[in-house]
Amino acid sequence: MHKIILASVAAVLLLAPASAMADGPIVLKFSHVVAEDTPKGKGALKFKELAEKYTNGKVKVEIYPNSSLYKDKEEIEALQLGSVQMLAPSTAKFAPLGVKEFEALDLPWLFKDEATYANAMKGPVGKWLFQKLEAKGITGLAYWDNGFHMMSANRPLLMPADFQGLKIRISGSKIADRYFRDLGSIPQIMAFSEVYQALQTGVVDGGENTASNYLTQKFYEVQKDITVSYHAHLQYAVIVNSKFWNGLPPDIRSELEKAMAEATDYTNSIAVKENDDALEAIKKSGKTTLHYLTDDQRKAWQDAMRPTYGWAKGRVGQEVLDLVAKELDIKMN
Ligand code: LMR
Repeated sequence: MHKIILASVAAVLLLAPASAMADGPIVLKFSHVVAEDTPKGKGALKFKELAEKYTNGKVKVEIYPNSSLYKDKEEIEALQLGSVQMLAPSTAKFAPLGVKEFEALDLPWLFKDEATYANAMKGPVGKWLFQKLEAKGITGLAYWDNGFHMMSANRPLLMPADFQGLKIRISGSKIADRYFRDLGSIPQIMAFSEVYQALQTGVVDGGENTASNYLTQKFYEVQKDITVSYHAHLQYAVIVNSKFWNGLPPDIRSELEKAMAEATDYTNSIAVKENDDALEAIKKSGKTTLHYLTDDQRKAWQDAMRPTYGWAKGRVGQEVLDLVAKELDIKMN
């Protein structure tokens, strides 16, 4: 008798959808690698606040910032395995998934300003890139802005010759690898959580990042010179494990979509100011020297990095380059 009851309970449990089965809330783990006091960190907290509110606590969002749960590469593997449900990696980090096309966004001097970037991501390119993720069991929900990269080392970086022989940390993109090689540097992929120590101990000589990351990771304390070059752009794709997302009860999923849409607007609305404020704080610290390129210096960087454009086709393919070129109304190669 007992066995029959147990067996039927087990059968009911197996058949019941996750939401009806669990007494507690659905837990959504959101892992990321930056500090909470950054555009992405604040965006994640906003999503948590809204998701829990709109689902009346039926969903609990657990945020793990600052690589506290997983580092760069691990978190993407964990998402595929379902050990974590949501991430917002830089789009420069998608190659290990077999989706290199995102790296088109890393082309140097591609977006002339923030408005150009924001408009471009509203167009077909963003959707096209997300479709590429589907085959990998990953669903793209939104693009979150950070801002333009600066470059740093322990010497002023003003002309291409200044880059000669420098070991430079990059986050993952082969496009960045290529433009640093064009400048005569030796790029090296390294997880974000390891960068501070690598700069401090001289494992690498320099790197590139946004002001908010320079400030919150204290990179500026171990780099004598930062060039406010704004030569490339850093943006994130908020992604979820498709099986988890599609398995959610539809009413819950639509509340989460609403929370994500609002968190996205919020993040994208604060990104520029967050980075402006961070740059101001770095300036005030007096711990590093900020350099601004003259028009001639900028032109020299652009000319030196130009070969990356011709090379990019073999890496990301013509299709995405055409889409980006059309969106920005520019000629690629
Ligand atoms: C980096 O690794 O430099 C960045 O992608 C970190 C981040 O998520 O902003």
